[in-house]
Amino acid sequence: MNNILVTGAGGQLGSSLVPKLRDLYGNSQVIATDIRQLDSEIAESGCFELLDATDAEAVGEAVESHQVGLIYHLAAILSATGERDPRHAWRINMSSLEAVLEVARHQGCAVFTPSSIGVFGSGTPKDLTPQDTVMQPTTMYGITKLAGELLCNYYHRKFGVDTRGVRYPGLISHGAPPGGGTTDWAVDIFYSAVEDGHYDCFLGPDTKLDMMYMPDAVSAAIAVMEADQDALEHRNAFNLTAMQLTPEMLSAEIQKHLPGFTIDYDIDPVRQAIADSWPDRIDDEAARKEWGWEPLFDIESMTKDMLGHLK
Ligand code: SER
Repeated sequence: MNNILVTGAGGQLGSSLVPKLRDLYGNSQVIATDIRQLDSEIAESGCFELLDATDAEAVGEAVESHQVGLIYHLAAILSATGERDPRHAWRINMSSLEAVLEVARHQGCAVFTPSSIGVFGSGTPKDLTPQDTVMQPTTMYGITKLAGELLCNYYHRKFGVDTRGVRYPGLISHGAPPGGGTTDWAVDIFYSAVEDGHYDCFLGPDTKLDMMYMPDAVSAAIAVMEADQDALEHRNAFNLTAMQLTPEMLSAEIQKHLPGFTIDYDIDPVRQAIADSWPDRIDDEAARKEWGWEPLFDIESMTKDMLGHLK
């Protein structure tokens, strides 16, 4: 029982996490799964299976047949998509997590579940948002992520399942695109800068949010699962951040590399309201202290690396 299964492997995080897990633990040790057939490297470099993570029986069969000891449960609906169809977001996010936790409980697996800065709401302190604080999310995405954190804690306390997770900020990457989040602007801006020299941003120039470059997000997912259990006071889920960005700051950084780049603002009120309800800067001291979290990339090194890959 020592293989690793990843749900939502074709998504923004999964498509970077799976290759790294395969490098570390071996190609045949990592079973990538997704609800859609993938044509990418992920489907070819190791075992890939179609899997609907809301189907507990199917998850159970995959875990049993591949002798899985750790599940990275990444399949989820993000914030902006969730507001378009909140019932669908609730159903997918909660029923898949519940299915994975039940399988983990009966088959003795550990579970990693990504949570998000979306668990916070407008009543939360905005600057240096503490690990343990007021949590009253106003999006369906945030509600499912907060309920998910509590459910994971419950499965640990009640059934002894080794559940762990982190609250990711916006993730910036050049692999698979993000699937309908409020922080997607920080990825879109790079593609538009390289392709068109111009970006129309759906958030206002001063909207500040926590962000992280994908290599740090991948390292965090692996490090928290490898951390010594006894050192963990928190489990679900650790605040994590690497940088705080506004569209104005990131466009100025991109202009250092592409001087002709321009940005305009065409604000989407739904995503602006979501962003305004989230913190400006979260405090990730608990992750630093309990399992040694430390990001490698800041705005300068991330921008240079992103543009290097996209050009
Ligand atoms: N990136 C996510 C979103 O914007 C937040 O976790 O929905």
